[in-house]
Amino acid sequence: MSSDDDDDETPDLFDEVDAQGRDDGYEPTSPWWLSGTPLEAEHHRLMRRRSVAIPWAASTASQLQPAERARLAATWMRRAQAEYLAVSTFSVLAIDLVAAMAPADVLSLCLRAGIDEVRHAEMAIRMAELYSGEQQLPPPGMSYLPDEPKRPKLHQALANTMLVSCVSETYATTVLSATRDLTTDPTAHAVLTAIYSDEVMHARLGWSYLRHAIEIGGDGVVEAAAAMLPRALRGVANVVERERPVGEVTEAVRTHGLMTPAEERVIFSTCVREVLVPGFTALGIPVGTSVEDYGDTWAHAA
Ligand SMILES: [Fe+2]
Ligand SMILES: [Fe+2]
Repeated sequence: MSSDDDDDETPDLFDEVDAQGRDDGYEPTSPWWLSGTPLEAEHHRLMRRRSVAIPWAASTASQLQPAERARLAATWMRRAQAEYLAVSTFSVLAIDLVAAMAPADVLSLCLRAGIDEVRHAEMAIRMAELYSGEQQLPPPGMSYLPDEPKRPKLHQALANTMLVSCVSETYATTVLSATRDLTTDPTAHAVLTAIYSDEVMHARLGWSYLRHAIEIGGDGVVEAAAAMLPRALRGVANVVERERPVGEVTEAVRTHGLMTPAEERVIFSTCVREVLVPGFTALGIPVGTSVEDYGDTWAHAA
């Protein structure tokens, strides 16, 4: 629906606004998931601001066997669910950051991350549709972040930033990068690239805020971060250890952006050892037994 279709009930609110940064090449990702109201125009403006063109028509999904398509559809629907939940994750984190009087750039990037996650959900939903042929949405839901009202707001904000951004999003960048390297299907490759480039910024947001919080907050902050670390690592490990959708990860499936659970374990273990632990150590945050907990034994347990 365009803004020309405004009905009489909402004249002013839905009047045409200046569509800044108009991009005529922009194409709605999953139009059937939109409201069907003139809000759509503003949504498209937000979504295309940092969009890359996805070659949807170039998908090679039709060359796959039915079982391979089913496996990929189920995986992309799980990804859609995770991306959808991440919208609420950044919304809740933004509340913590506002309560702690975080710097303006941290606030704006956190809120923008939530918008990025809407776009990721749209893309994952469309990918699932490409493989299944069905228009399907993930189940409704929201993620909950640890909330301890009695602790200082700064500690709450930095602990949840660590969980969401430093650990989860940093792991997301490493697994997306490795998955993308296997992917030859042009559509899957473009979608993974678009998501990856946003997740890099989502991770950077956390590391920057952590450094800022340590500078202004001192020792109590370091202790709060250290206490959150095992919990944050466990949270991601739970996702990595989770059962996968039914279906074999064939060579053809791999070229559409899917790795085996065993490969993902190795990536998480490597991420802990080579990225997260050195990063936290550089900021003076004790890492305890993180490297041992997710070392070779854990990595090869599946
Ligand atoms: Fe995402
Ligand atoms: Fe993200």
